[in-house]
Amino acid sequence: MDVKIYQYDAVIVGAGLAGLAAARELTAAGKKTAVITKLHPLRSHSGAAQGGINAALGEGDSTELHEFDTVKGSDYLADQDCVELMCTKAPETIRWAEQMGAVFSRDDKGDIAIRPFGGQSKPRACYAKDRTGLTLLQTIYEQCVREDVEVFDEWYAGDLIYKDGKVSGVVAFNIRDSKFAIFNAKATMFATGGHARAYKINSNAHANTGDSLSIVARHGLPLEDMEFVQFHPSGLGGSGILISEAARGEGGRLYNSEGERFMEKYAPNALELASRDVVSRAIMQEIREGRGVGPNKDAVSIDLTHLDPEIILTRLPELRELAITFLGQDMLKEPIHIAATAHYSMGGIPVDINCHVRKNPKELVEGFYAAGECSCVSVHGANRLGANSVLEALLFGRHAGENIVKDLGNLELRPATEQDAAAFIAEYQWVKTNNGNEKVAKLREELQESMTRDAGVFRTAESLSRQKEKIKELLKRYKEIRVQDKSSVYNTEIQEAIELGHMLEYSLFIVEGALAREESRGGHFREDFPQRDDEKFLKHTYAYMDKDFNITQEYADVVLGKFEVKERSY
Ligand code: FUM
Repeated sequence: MDVKIYQYDAVIVGAGLAGLAAARELTAAGKKTAVITKLHPLRSHSGAAQGGINAALGEGDSTELHEFDTVKGSDYLADQDCVELMCTKAPETIRWAEQMGAVFSRDDKGDIAIRPFGGQSKPRACYAKDRTGLTLLQTIYEQCVREDVEVFDEWYAGDLIYKDGKVSGVVAFNIRDSKFAIFNAKATMFATGGHARAYKINSNAHANTGDSLSIVARHGLPLEDMEFVQFHPSGLGGSGILISEAARGEGGRLYNSEGERFMEKYAPNALELASRDVVSRAIMQEIREGRGVGPNKDAVSIDLTHLDPEIILTRLPELRELAITFLGQDMLKEPIHIAATAHYSMGGIPVDINCHVRKNPKELVEGFYAAGECSCVSVHGANRLGANSVLEALLFGRHAGENIVKDLGNLELRPATEQDAAAFIAEYQWVKTNNGNEKVAKLREELQESMTRDAGVFRTAESLSRQKEKIKELLKRYKEIRVQDKSSVYNTEIQEAIELGHMLEYSLFIVEGALAREESRGGHFREDFPQRDDEKFLKHTYAYMDKDFNITQEYADVVLGKFEVKERSY
């Protein structure tokens, strides 16, 4: 084995907003930090966040109202202490981003512009046209360059060094030449983003394959609330590419094939600006009942033609271009076609309020941190409000960085040896040399189609049991894969095969969690259990996987607080 061993104070996997924000804090504090990313940082999926970042800056708004909306939006599953931290620090986070150089859109008075988003009692989403994530990502990346953060881009991290309750780094290979290395560190942080690529119709980048989730799970550590997948109401018809909620925030109206503004039936007060779970279900219900539009009647229309064209041209220019490019529909002139798209994962790697990864509901793992979408802190509970994810990523990314800086004095470097890389190297070699007759792309397609059909917006025990069997079948067939490309340079075929292994495993967590949760809450809707059941399920799911892919689950208490648990309506 020829494995280089690097040593750092901290190693961060993922270079989106959360990872870069943490890296910037650590490096600025003089800590030797490496960021490992399978992309270039500026290609991270944070850059695809369009509509905004929440902070209570507007007239009549308050952090308490932001907290209330977030807790209500979460269907009361969010941990209220974490929500309080996030909402209280949100205004400062915006100022910080601005001081770092982020250019936000302005209102007529020259203040940071804010717009309405779903499930919020006041306009609260600060934005940079419809490129908010990209603007912030570029800003934080510039700051990382300024601080000389060490970035290992186009490196694929595939295993964690975890022994005796302590994490001491990761094992990765360089995608350019397939050479392996160990990144040995006192503190390790995962900030790898989301995993909606398990679904056929999704708004996520190709890279969003949830690698870190199964890496963690393979070590017997838990994943939390994986059944809660957010389906964004407006994915471009057919592809699922994101059409920001900003389109509804700026006044877009939803219509079915009969010309009905159907949200009047489902959310008579908030209409198109009800929370995402409510609007997505309404759209899919209209389509199921035969009132869809488009050649396959699998979309509804969003109409913005009544708006002043200046609003579209200055605040939604990218959305307009996307619809023209992919559907040939110009929102200045006609309604465009949209449908629900898998967008975000409320669940993930469980962490405490200071981003320490949990070993179980009561114990923490030493030297291990997570933030952003791959983590579950849990500020979104069963349903996230739009523009709270960019906030979470940036704010908890910084928070994780600050906490690691504080913790480092008490963390020892446990020296790694080449042997620590053996398991991942063996996995890589197996993928490269296995001589079966299954194709990775075919298995992935079957996973994505079946997840969309049987573990999507609407779920039943029957559909979920079918999907569990399907994943078990795919896991068996995965043992028979064969890759054609045996080379060492940019071998993305091997990488995709490894990613498929992760997708299959974390999908099992989604399905098992959904099967066990016999209630409907937020983004998880069981047609056979349409009511929320607080008595049994006002709980977080903690799920663990064994070597044969059997999942066991336990439930943990939600942190309640000043907001009483109530029925939710919009
Ligand atoms: O609709 C959007 O612009 C997406 C934002 C978000 O997911 O927070």
